[in-house]
Amino acid sequence: MSKSFLRKSLQGVEPYVPGEQPADGEDWIKLNTNESPLPPSPRVIEAIKAATDESLRLYPSPTAAPARQAIAKHFGLAPMQVTLGNGADELIEMCLRAFAGAGDRVAYPTPTYPLLEPLCRLHDAVPSPNPSGELFTWSPELMDDPAPLKFLVNPNSPTGTWHGGPSVERVVKRSKGVVVLDEAYVDFAFESQVALLAKHDNLLILRTMSKSYALAGMRIGFALGSPELIAALDAVKDSYNLDRLAIVAATAAIQDEEHHRKIVDHVVGERRWLELQLHELGFEHSPSEANFVFVKPTMGNVGAAVVDALRQRRILVRYYDRDPIAGWFRITVGTRVQHERLLSALKEILI
Ligand SMILES: Cc1ncc(COP(=O)(O)O)c(C=O)c1O
Repeated sequence: MSKSFLRKSLQGVEPYVPGEQPADGEDWIKLNTNESPLPPSPRVIEAIKAATDESLRLYPSPTAAPARQAIAKHFGLAPMQVTLGNGADELIEMCLRAFAGAGDRVAYPTPTYPLLEPLCRLHDAVPSPNPSGELFTWSPELMDDPAPLKFLVNPNSPTGTWHGGPSVERVVKRSKGVVVLDEAYVDFAFESQVALLAKHDNLLILRTMSKSYALAGMRIGFALGSPELIAALDAVKDSYNLDRLAIVAATAAIQDEEHHRKIVDHVVGERRWLELQLHELGFEHSPSEANFVFVKPTMGNVGAAVVDALRQRRILVRYYDRDPIAGWFRITVGTRVQHERLLSALKEILI
C-alpha cells in the first residue's frame, strides 16, 4: 500500500505475516502453520456438500444460530454465552473493537501469538507486553497490569507452554478488565478452563476449529463467556461473519466427538514421539502441550541455515530469529511419514 494513502498511525507498523502457504497440490511437507495432519470429519464434508445448493443465494443466519446452539449444548452453556467468528483471529479483533479503544492498554505475556501487537496498532491501542519468566511462565507483573483488556494464550504459541487452572484464575481474579483466554490449542493439553466461566464474568474463552477439528480452511472460531461479554462481541461483529457453509461445518464438527478425539489422540501420541526423536538428534525442547513441538538445535548450527536447508528439501517449519526465542523452531505435529522425512533431512543437514 502506498505510504501516502495509509493512515498516519499505521505508517511504519509491521503487519502480521502468516506462515508460508504453498499452492494446493504442490508436494510439500507442511509443518509450519499448525494445521491438522488428519482430514476433517466425513460428516462435515457431507454437510458442506449438502448445503451447497441454490440456498446460497440467501444470506446466512447473522447469528450463525444452528452452530451457536450446537456449541452451547456441547459445552453445557446457554446459546447467549456463545458467539462465532471467521476464525479465532476475527474474535481477537472483535475483542479489540469491543473492549479496548484508542489509547487503551492491551496486556499480554511475551513471547506469544504475534498477531496481537499489530492488531493493537490497527486499533490505536497501546500494546503492553509482559516478558515471561523462566521456562516461559507468566510474570507477576502481568496480573497487576491495569489494562482493560488482557490476552493469555494457553497452551501458548509458539512455546507450547501450559499454565494450570490456578495460574489462569489468579490472573482473572486480579484483573479488573476483560481477560481473554485463547485456548486455540487446549484440546491437545490437560483441560480447558471452561468451568471458570461460571465464577468469573470478566473471562472470555476463545477456541478455533482450525486445529483439533481440521477445519483451518473453513475459518471457524468461537467464543464462550458471560452473556454480557458475548453481547458486547455481537454488538461489534460484522453482520454475516460466518457464511452458510461455515455454519453447517461448525455444527457438524462439534457433533462428531469421535472424529475429534481421533485427531487429538493422533497428535498427542505423535508429539511425544517427535519430541523424543528430536531430543536424540541433539535438540533442546520446551515442553509443549499443543499440536507442535518447540525445539532448538544445541549443536552450534545456525537456525536460519537449517530452515533454508529444510526448505530446499520441501519441508516447511516455523523459525524464530528474535530474542528471547532466537534460534528456536516451532514444528507442527504431522503424520509419522512426514516426521520420518523431517528427521532424515535433519540428519543430513546437522552432520
Ligand atoms: C494462539 C492462536 N490463536 C488464534 C489462532 C487463529 O485461529 P483461526 O485459524 O481460528 O483464526 C491461532 C492460529 O494459529 C493461534 O496460534
